Amino acid sequence: MPDQVWGDKQAAQHEQEHILKILLLGKNGQVGWELQRSLAPLGQVLALDRHSTEFCGDLSQPERLAQTVRDWRPDVIVNAAAHTAVDKAESEPELARCLNTTAPAALAQAAAEIGAWLVHYSTDYVFNGHGDQPWREGDATGPLSVYGQSKLEGEQAIIASGCKHLVFRTSWVYAARGGNFAKTMLRLAAERERLTVINDQHGAPTGADLIADVTAHAIRSAGQKTGLGGIYHLVAAGETTWHGYASHVIAQARQIQPEPGLKVSEIAPVPTTAFPTPAQRPLNSRLNTHKLQEAFGLVLPPWQQGVNRMLAEIL
Ligand SMILES: NC(=O)c1ccc[n+]([C@@H]2O[C@H](COP(=O)([O-])OP(=O)(O)OC[C@H]3O[C@@H](n4cnc5c(N)ncnc54)[C@H](OP(=O)(O)O)[C@@H]3O)[C@@H](O)[C@H]2O)c1
Repeated sequence: MPDQVWGDKQAAQHEQEHILKILLLGKNGQVGWELQRSLAPLGQVLALDRHSTEFCGDLSQPERLAQTVRDWRPDVIVNAAAHTAVDKAESEPELARCLNTTAPAALAQAAAEIGAWLVHYSTDYVFNGHGDQPWREGDATGPLSVYGQSKLEGEQAIIASGCKHLVFRTSWVYAARGGNFAKTMLRLAAERERLTVINDQHGAPTGADLIADVTAHAIRSAGQKTGLGGIYHLVAAGETTWHGYASHVIAQARQIQPEPGLKVSEIAPVPTTAFPTPAQRPLNSRLNTHKLQEAFGLVLPPWQQGVNRMLAEIL
């Protein structure tokens, strides 16, 4: 899809009406794709990915990225791009750090220079996963992985830059488009009678569409009311485990498409240690969202609502 750039007529209209200029990075990721939809009614959106030519949208080139900001002079930058391959990051820490720390730092610096807002996404993986209470924004961090550390340093660089910012920490993101955990479970459930799924990591599956819709609402609110900048936890309500998530997906799929179809008869719960991975994951990924709901007057729906909707779309 070509970059979305308005023509001369719309640009002239922008001058007259002060329409919001929004620079979106990572337009084809799970969240980026949904942001293309949710940001469209807010103003003029320039949506880039790493291959964009007229303007640089490549996080591996932080200086050129900052130049895009200085040249196009957006009111709001929304960065949905990142190094999200959590296990791969363990063996390519420099690249993860460049994409998740250095690039957001450069964006933040450029945003501070021109007075733009920077909207950015971070992760539950900034926490060490101890305990069973949902993490609050001010709780001590302690990443267990290269990915988590690089995302935490990205947050810190944004704050240190002094730019106006909204940083949304989210978790267990899925979208109808592309691959996701639910699709993998459904494929395996069609092939096997027994599945083993981790039951000691706790969190909330969160739809990219929900993240994008909340982002659009927050951008509008932050533009109208001062003092709303900061870090917020943004996840669907409730909590589950990967085992609970998989069980829900399979039960729901059977309701939507009654058998025959899925072969699976047993979904066995297993600990994280049953599936060794290069990167360590936190066991407690619960995030407390009170701050976000109060600041922006929003209600976050139960995680099952978004998952059911996604299943209805893909089945
Ligand atoms: N996925 C999760 O479960 C999860 C959980 C917590 C937080 N988050 C955070 O939420 C945000 C959005 O995640 P997501 O799930 O939408 O991730 P995603 O689907 O993996 O999308 C990430 C995007 O970043 C792009 N990207 C990678 N390297 C790039 C580069 N050098 N320059 C420009 N773009 C590059 C990718 O492009 P290509 O398609 O070309 O590779 C992809 O479109 C990220 O900040 C992530 O850290 C995600």
